[in-house]
Amino acid sequence: MAVELTWYGHATWLITSGDYRILVDPFLDDNPSATIKAADVDPSVILVSHGHADHIADAAAIANRTGATVYAVYEVANWLAENHKVQNTVGMNIGGAAVLPVGKVKMVPALHSSGLPDGSYGGVAAGFLVKVGDTKIYFACDTALFSDMQMIGAVGLDAAVLPIGDLFTMGPEDSVTATELLKPTKVLPTHYNTWPPIEQDAGAWAELVRTKTSAEPVVLQPGETVTL
Ligand code: NI
Ligand code: MN
Repeated sequence: MAVELTWYGHATWLITSGDYRILVDPFLDDNPSATIKAADVDPSVILVSHGHADHIADAAAIANRTGATVYAVYEVANWLAENHKVQNTVGMNIGGAAVLPVGKVKMVPALHSSGLPDGSYGGVAAGFLVKVGDTKIYFACDTALFSDMQMIGAVGLDAAVLPIGDLFTMGPEDSVTATELLKPTKVLPTHYNTWPPIEQDAGAWAELVRTKTSAEPVVLQPGETVTL
């Protein structure tokens, strides 16, 4: 079955496989680049990479409206259950995988912090390796470049979604180095152009990817979809 990947702006992504929808890091209502609102999505499950507001802001409201199960690092999952009455949560930790009806999701390392919006401890930040059928997608989420990305890429990635915004995460040059380590078929930029401090030239980044790696850069506009 075809797997589609939609960018909603900033770090919010949707994976669609038939009727199954995996929403990653929902931040829509206060996201200046989003083309939809939190009320417009109907995910089967939600993945939250860490506790920062630009990744978790709408997770509870969407989960409570739709009944979607939220997968997050243990501390974040507990916080959503206890502070926002989210009914269905699965607490995970780095290196662990959870089975989904369409495949599985593995929580992988990220070099970043994870404080929750109210100051609560949010455990560690994570990335996700999502397998849908035979399609493998790596969401680096908020992270610095690290050499173990080579091991994450060893599974054979159809797509890697990498931050390029700099300041809070990898910038364009490091994300090209990450692409060299990960060796995905397609690479998609994320976490940029939401606000002035993380403005980047995605066209220049794509040219660098073409020059230095074997991956195909896919630059989406918020609201656009690519079929993997
Ligand atoms: Ni963050
Ligand atoms: Mn962020």
